[in-house]
This record gives sequence, C-alpha cells and structure tokens, in this order.
Amino acid sequence: MKLNTDFVAWFRSVAPYVNAFRGKTFVVAFGGEVVADGKFVELVHDLNLLASLGVRLVLVHGARPQIEVRLQEHKLQTAYVKGMRVTDAATLQCVKESVGRVRVEIEALLSMGLPNSPMANAAIRVASGNFVTARPVGVVEGVDLMHTGEVRKVDAAAIRSRLEQGEVALLSPLGYSPTGEIFNLTLENVAAAAAIALNAEKLIFLMDTAGIEEKSPGKPGKFPRELTVAESKALLARLTDRPAKLFDDVRLYLPCALQACEGGVARVHLISRHVDGAVLQELFTHDGIGSMISQGPLQALRNAGVEDVGGILQLIEPLEAKGVLVRRNRELLEMEISRFVVLEHDRMIVACAALYPFPDEKASELACLAVHPDYRNAGYGDTLLKHIEAKAKTQGSKKLFVLTTGAAHWFVERGFEETGVEKLPKAKQGLYNYRRRSKVFVKKL
Ligand SMILES: CC(C)(COP(=O)(O)OP(=O)(O)OC[C@H]1O[C@@H](n2cnc3c(N)ncnc32)[C@H](O)[C@@H]1OP(=O)(O)O)[C@@H](O)C(=O)NCCC(=O)NCCS
Repeated sequence: MKLNTDFVAWFRSVAPYVNAFRGKTFVVAFGGEVVADGKFVELVHDLNLLASLGVRLVLVHGARPQIEVRLQEHKLQTAYVKGMRVTDAATLQCVKESVGRVRVEIEALLSMGLPNSPMANAAIRVASGNFVTARPVGVVEGVDLMHTGEVRKVDAAAIRSRLEQGEVALLSPLGYSPTGEIFNLTLENVAAAAAIALNAEKLIFLMDTAGIEEKSPGKPGKFPRELTVAESKALLARLTDRPAKLFDDVRLYLPCALQACEGGVARVHLISRHVDGAVLQELFTHDGIGSMISQGPLQALRNAGVEDVGGILQLIEPLEAKGVLVRRNRELLEMEISRFVVLEHDRMIVACAALYPFPDEKASELACLAVHPDYRNAGYGDTLLKHIEAKAKTQGSKKLFVLTTGAAHWFVERGFEETGVEKLPKAKQGLYNYRRRSKVFVKKL
C-alpha cells in the first residue's frame, strides 16, 4: 500500500516537468568514453524515455578516446597548441575512422527494440548528416592547426525539420566546409553552437566529475548546484588562474556552457556520466544531481495569471487534503487568480499567497500562503509575506489578517497578534468556518 502511495505521489510530482518539457529541444553532449565503457545502453534507455515524452533530442557525441587508440595503432603522435590538437592529413584519417565507428555504434544502440526492455516499441529514427559547416582554426602561435576546425554555422532549419518528424538528431565532432574539406571539431563546440542555433531549452553535458567540481582533496564531491552566468564566469576565472584545480572536463565544457547560456540557451546542466539515470535525476527532481547554469537568478516573484492555476493547485492540494488550507476548486481559483502571487524556482511554482482587500475597513486578509515542502526553511514564506504586506499597504490597508490552523507561531514570530473572529472585516466574519476553528491573527501595517 505504502509502495502504491509513494508511487502515485512520485508520479504526480513528475507531471509538471513532463508538461514543461513537451515539445522543447534538449541538446545532450557526451564524450566517446560513454560509448567506450559500455554505459551508453543505460543512457539510451533514458534518452528513449525523454523522446517518448515529447522532448526533441539532439545528441552530440565525441570520440577522443577512440581517436587516441587509433593514433597509437598507427604510431602517430599529434602536437597540441593551446590545448588544441594539430590535425594533419594522417591524423584526420584516424579522426574520420574513429568518429565514423562511434556514430555507427550509437545508431545501432538507438535502434534497439527488444521486448521486455525499456526500448520495446521505441522505434527511434536517427537523423545524422551534414548539419555542421566548419572553418579552419588557422595558425595559432605560429603553428598551422591544419584540419582542426571550429563551427561556422549549424543548419538549424534542417535539424528542426527532422525533429518535427519525430527523429532524434545525432551530431558528430566533424564539420564540412563549402570547399568540400573535412574539419576535426570538439564536441563541446558543436554542442554549444547547435544549442544556440536551435534556441534549445537545455544543453546537457555528461562528464567525468559530478558537477563543476574542483580538485580539492579535502572536499570530494562538493560543487555548486546552481549558478548564474556571472557566477560561473567568476568561478572559471578563479579556476583558470589555478590550473592545478581544474578537471579536464570542467576546463573543456564550462567555457562552452557559458557561451551557450549567453547565446540564449535557457539552462545548461553539467552532470556525471557515471551515475545510472543521471539525466533523469537532473531533469525530473527538485534538487537535480549536478551543476546547472542559468542566464539569471532562478527565483522570481510575480503576480499569478490564469496559466498558473494548475501549478498552484498542485502546490495547495496536498495541504487542503491535510486540512491545513481551506479547499479551493479550480473554478474558484480561476476567478480569484488576480489575488495571487507566486514564487517560481526554475520556472516551477514553489510558493504562493493571496491578498484579499476589504477597503471599507482599511484591512486585508493574507490567505493561502503555502511553500512546497522541498523549499521550506529557505525564507520563501518570509519573502512572500513581506511582498503581501507591502502590497496591502500600497492599497491603503492599515492591518493584515490571517487565519491559520497550524502556523500560529510562524505568524507570531513575524509580528502578528492573536485576535477574535469579531475583529475580522464584516464580510469575512460571515464566511468564518466555526468547524475549522482557525485562529485569527492580525498585524498592524
Ligand atoms: C508556514 C510556511 C508558509 C513557512 O514557509 P517557509 O518558507 O518554510 O518559511 P521561512 O523559511 O520564511 O521560515 C522558516 C522558519 O519558520 C519556522 N516554521 C516553519 N513552519 C512553521 C510553523 N508551522 N510554525 C512555526 N514555525 C514554523 C521554521 O522552523 C523556520 O524557523 P528557523 O529559521 O528558526 O529554523 C510553510 O511551512 C507552509 O507552507 N506551511 C503550510 C501552509 C500553512 O500553514 N500556511 C499558513 C496558513 S495561510
């Protein structure tokens, strides 16, 4: 029974994400290591699930370890300039062979459809092609990088038309020039350029570390969970000054993650490739699992609109069921939505409150103050209360009432005093529910 209740609660908690993600474009970037160490099957199952929820997927793969193996087999050594490989003709041959192999392996795994597996009936169609135009990096510090290139253009229209057909787009770290040449690109460059060109909702990097970690022996696994672009830039500058603290993946991916965010991608996630289900955990849970970069702060306080009714209901229904809040059905909420303010975290409604003015008595009522259990004790309740108090004051109210059954002390600690039902505005007294026996509190504004 407990299992069933937990399952239902869990399934419902995922619903807002499913609705928010449907029809959105996610770019998922991963190195050749993911394919080389056999973890790709699990990732494919999760990608398949995302695709079946209506997410438009663009996959960008790398092939660094496979290229290294190929070069060793041919006893070729390549030089690096400023961290970039010099790709001569012999190296390019190894790059083409390795990238081709990895791509074919990925396409094969995406084609799985075994019954009794998460891929049953999946029938994912993969679109790969000449979507990326490249140009040579040219001469750096006096060295010609030859076939090492950078993205010049991503054919967003062509990719979009494939996504609209329900296909998954697969991009490789190779680009072609209008002169017919082939260039060796980095996966992070392709991923960021594709995410920007497609105006993707999310860009997800799978990496060796759990997030934007730094090498500090005393604190393994500690890393920032949510950062703005400005915070990420400061962190990158600090780490670049102390290269000994930089993990390779962070060094490679973080600058491109920032570039994508500045180019209009709403969220960039940097998560571990070693955790089974990491993509799902990052996308469908409140806390996520890795680091997330956004253009601006994730919190926003704003007036509610009718499109928020669903989100508010999801927040207050469990509290209504417990008798903590008075029941409001959807119709009533729709009618009274202009009274509500909501606090968003990463575009999910995590707290709400309503203000009902009684202008004749220069009083207002604060109602339906609720903070999602995962976000409590973080000051959200306080923020909403202050906002409501300021709003009531500008509307001419001299006092603010609140009726509560379980949060009496919370209000007392914020300057409210207990009072009687007879002190409520007249219209409210008539609505007082004597069976609920809520306590009445008032605060002078
Ligand atoms: C009451 C509520 C809005 C507080 O929201 P919040 O964002 O967690 O509050 P804040 O972070 O601003 O404040 C947290 C502090 O209040 C305390 N607190 C939280 N709920 C409390 C309660 N019911 N009674 C007394 N104190 C409470 C916490 O222990 C914490 O105190 P601390 O900082 O000393 O540890 C939230 O618990 C909630 O949604 N409750 C259910 C709905 C409800 O009762 N609404 C009020 C009736 S309209």
